[in-house]
Amino acid sequence: MLVIIIKFYMPKDFFDDSQKISRELSSSETEKKKINPKDIFNQFLLNKRIFKNKEALSSSFVPTEILHRDAEIEVISNILAPSLLLERISNLLIYGFSGTGKSLVTRYVAQNLASLALDKNVNVMPIYINCRLENNDTEYRLISNLCTVFGVKVPVSGLSVNQLYKRLVSNVDIEDKYLILILDEIEKLIQNAGDGVLYSLLRLNESMKHAKISIIGISNNTDLKASLDQRVKSSLSPVELVFKPYNAIEIENILQTRTKDSFYTDALDESVIKKCAALAAQEHGDVRKALNLLRVAGETTQQSGRVKVLEEDLDKATDILEQNITEEMIKSMTKQGKSILYSIIVTARSKRMGKVYSGEVYDAYIKISDKYGLKRLTFRRISDLIADMDYNSLIMSRVKSNGRYGRTRELNIAFSPALLMKVEEILRNDLKSG
Ligand SMILES: Nc1ncnc2c1ncn2[C@@H]1O[C@H](COP(=O)(O)OP(=O)(O)OP(=O)(O)O)[C@@H](O)[C@H]1O
Ligand SMILES: [Mg+2]
Repeated sequence: MLVIIIKFYMPKDFFDDSQKISRELSSSETEKKKINPKDIFNQFLLNKRIFKNKEALSSSFVPTEILHRDAEIEVISNILAPSLLLERISNLLIYGFSGTGKSLVTRYVAQNLASLALDKNVNVMPIYINCRLENNDTEYRLISNLCTVFGVKVPVSGLSVNQLYKRLVSNVDIEDKYLILILDEIEKLIQNAGDGVLYSLLRLNESMKHAKISIIGISNNTDLKASLDQRVKSSLSPVELVFKPYNAIEIENILQTRTKDSFYTDALDESVIKKCAALAAQEHGDVRKALNLLRVAGETTQQSGRVKVLEEDLDKATDILEQNITEEMIKSMTKQGKSILYSIIVTARSKRMGKVYSGEVYDAYIKISDKYGLKRLTFRRISDLIADMDYNSLIMSRVKSNGRYGRTRELNIAFSPALLMKVEEILRNDLKSG
């Protein structure tokens, strides 16, 4: 263990540095002064600090400033405002690509609403739930988690979902109250539990005398509403808000503010932020990715014992992140997922890496699934899996409502050529290995 720690913190030029220090010492009058390792370590810490606060680059960190989202903050605030008079508000569906600030902005507005409601002594409760986490994509778990918010103890299993709803209502509907349920990554809930859960939640309004409930759903699947059952759609009747991708200049401004909290002033070359912003702008304005890139670039610099993050560190970070994330993700995919991704790649290759359409991928998938003895999935299921790949940035897709296949998805491969070769190899081997 000790060896690992020493190795990790030991920069390549460690011996060079220590030799330099000892040479300086021996040539000075303090020739007889003993070398104290702590002095060397302290010097190292002084020299090599790059991060002021690395946490400030993580997704859970709440930034001091939210730039370029005033219009969205205004729309959401206007929709939520009547809840302060306990007047009914619209349900809301928020869409947008990954890393465009949907979760951040929604939580920010909700926090402001909650704190104002507290000041004014109004019973408005925004409740934030991420459907991807803590099994919140099952109806049982989601409703039991809501019950716990109101102090109702619920067994992990054993009750019927109806009993859970009853317990929830009897603990919520005791006074005038407005629950604003923020369901982040709502597509996970719908995929796993079906959309009936939204209907059941909104139907509670009919059985409650005092309390009201509205839903804010957040998703990066712009197709979400179309996929809902008619009955659910009409009870939800949502206002829809799309978060447009940030452009390179906007990302640059955002990174400037985020790096003030996270990096020491001189540790980051201005050109690095510019380049990182340009890269993220190509990735449909994904600020999360940009922040991750800066973090890994900083770590790369630190490990090499230098004090300033340069563009080359960013290039290295791009490779590291792209490769790590992709390989991990692909290895954890099901065989069906792998065969679909392989079908996308094969189709794109046959079109010299041009755009491909979901219908063409389906044709290729039929052949590939037969070749590897897989049960054929329906076109609908394949579309869901493709949406998941988009969500995980393995591909980029956009729904188009014309073309040979009617409503179809236009797909683009998101890998660099070198990574693409590696991905193809992993997929081929995994599919072959049965
Ligand atoms: N305008 C902004 N100012 C400062 N930081 C931002 C801004 N927009 C996004 N971020 C940061 O970028 C990261 C991603 O934002 P967020 O999690 O809100 O994206 P998202 O749209 O919810 O993405 P996903 O669909 O993947 O959940 C977070 O660290 C967030 O703090
Ligand atoms: Mg989010």
